[in-house]
Amino acid sequence: MSRDRFVPPGHFRDLDSFREALRGVDPGFGADPSPFGADSALARPLEVAGKHLSNRFTAHPMEGWDGTAEGRPTELTLRRWRRFGRSGAALIWGGEAFAVREDGRANPNQLHLHADHGAVVADLRALLAEIELGRSEVGADGDVLVGLQLTHSGRWSRPVGPPAPRIAAHHPVLDARLGIDDDATLLTDDDLRAIGACYVDAARLAQEAGFDFVDVKACHGYLLHELLGAKGREGAYGGSFANRTRLFVEIVAGIRAACPGLAIGVRVSLADVGPFRPAPGSRIGEPDGFTADVVEAAGFGRGRADVYAFDLDEPFAFLQLCEQLDVRLVNVTLGSPYYCPHLQRPAAYPPSDGYLPPEDPLASVFRHLQVVRAAKAHCPDLVLVGTGYTYLQEWLPHVAHHEVAQGHVDFVGLGRMLLSYPELPLDVLRGDALRKKLICRTFSDCTTAPRNGMVSGCYPLDDLYRARPEAARVRAIKQARTAR
Ligand SMILES: Cc1cc2nc3c(=O)[nH]c(=O)nc-3n(C[C@H](O)[C@H](O)[C@H](O)COP(=O)(O)O)c2cc1C
Ligand code: SF4
Repeated sequence: MSRDRFVPPGHFRDLDSFREALRGVDPGFGADPSPFGADSALARPLEVAGKHLSNRFTAHPMEGWDGTAEGRPTELTLRRWRRFGRSGAALIWGGEAFAVREDGRANPNQLHLHADHGAVVADLRALLAEIELGRSEVGADGDVLVGLQLTHSGRWSRPVGPPAPRIAAHHPVLDARLGIDDDATLLTDDDLRAIGACYVDAARLAQEAGFDFVDVKACHGYLLHELLGAKGREGAYGGSFANRTRLFVEIVAGIRAACPGLAIGVRVSLADVGPFRPAPGSRIGEPDGFTADVVEAAGFGRGRADVYAFDLDEPFAFLQLCEQLDVRLVNVTLGSPYYCPHLQRPAAYPPSDGYLPPEDPLASVFRHLQVVRAAKAHCPDLVLVGTGYTYLQEWLPHVAHHEVAQGHVDFVGLGRMLLSYPELPLDVLRGDALRKKLICRTFSDCTTAPRNGMVSGCYPLDDLYRARPEAARVRAIKQARTAR
């Protein structure tokens, strides 16, 4: 599908015409007329983990590929966290992916746990202080719940630049893409246990720094997500559902023992479509190697009948497991930015390593809404955060209001929108008009830049990044791609 086969949300002149488009995607896709101000469902308080949260906005974790080589925050990192604070969102989910081991970094500039624990705690405190500073700058009051996202990048590790995958299980398509043809990169059961211990170490330091919770990240194709789908793996951590969730259970138990009082959450890709690739010629995304055999061997929440026919039996079992473990905070996401970016972060314009959307991105947004709705209906006592809202652009508050007012989700998570327009939640809650020039138009520069070795940021709309030397390079990469 080329971009002129769908109409980006910003092109709709009024809510009625946008709602008609939503109904064309699915009759259940709703947008409410009055999402603004103190009476909004988005301003409905909720008690979570002992805090009185006064709104239903969440800042999703967003890394910037901008830490030092030693894994410490830079001015750019601190600024991003300050801007998360400026959102006024009552729930700050994770800040950004923090690698529990140096070799588990997704890029050489990812924050990570290192031997100088005193410095780690000081850096984490500095990040928390930026959130408070941002909140005070905009007069955001009340409680805020802040977590740190703990990660090991597994298959997508690139600790010093080139890919250095450490896989949980083989995957025919993804192995081929990474040139993996033997077991050299396959983590052993002992390797996994050692990595699990690092999650516990990192959680201890996060608690010492003052974080309210840690997110044991299990999404987007990284290690714990790949393990959830490792049906073809042998041994204690592969095959059965109990084996595939074993490491997650062990990490949660370890954190509980080491960090009494620290809440635990999980960001999980609850369903998936597996790898896509650009079709030769058109560059429109198409499934790559979608066969029953592949789904059988690898993948979590994937159906066999059709690439988009999610199978939620195991995801629901995972949510029940979370309830049993008293992991009540669950951030629901889909897929992976590495192999199905159109689903993971719906966009009008693909990143440089992506492909043109194979469906109207509104349909991809609705897949996010549907999965989290199903999760909420199945496990109403969990505190669920939804994903995929940024593509809705000026209509984001209207759809967000609908989802919360209907009880489909507890918190509306915002990713890219907060890079371009951090104060959007506060503007909605205060009943102020949206600042249209700041609305993220899903140009994907914040993904294209790091895919080409540069720091991430909103190059088109954030003055600081617009003025950086990388901005011209990002533009040139995009132009070269469009010309092809
Ligand atoms: C530049 C960038 C960095 C991201 N970093 C993270 C991250 O560190 N951890 C994570 O779980 N998701 C990360 N994401 C995914 C977002 O949290 C979010 O799921 C995604 O952008 C879709 O939400 P949106 O449509 O509101 O942008 C990142 C996305 C982008 C564009
Ligand atoms: S670069 Fe800016 S406008 Fe483009 S997707 Fe990222 S946040 Fe949105």
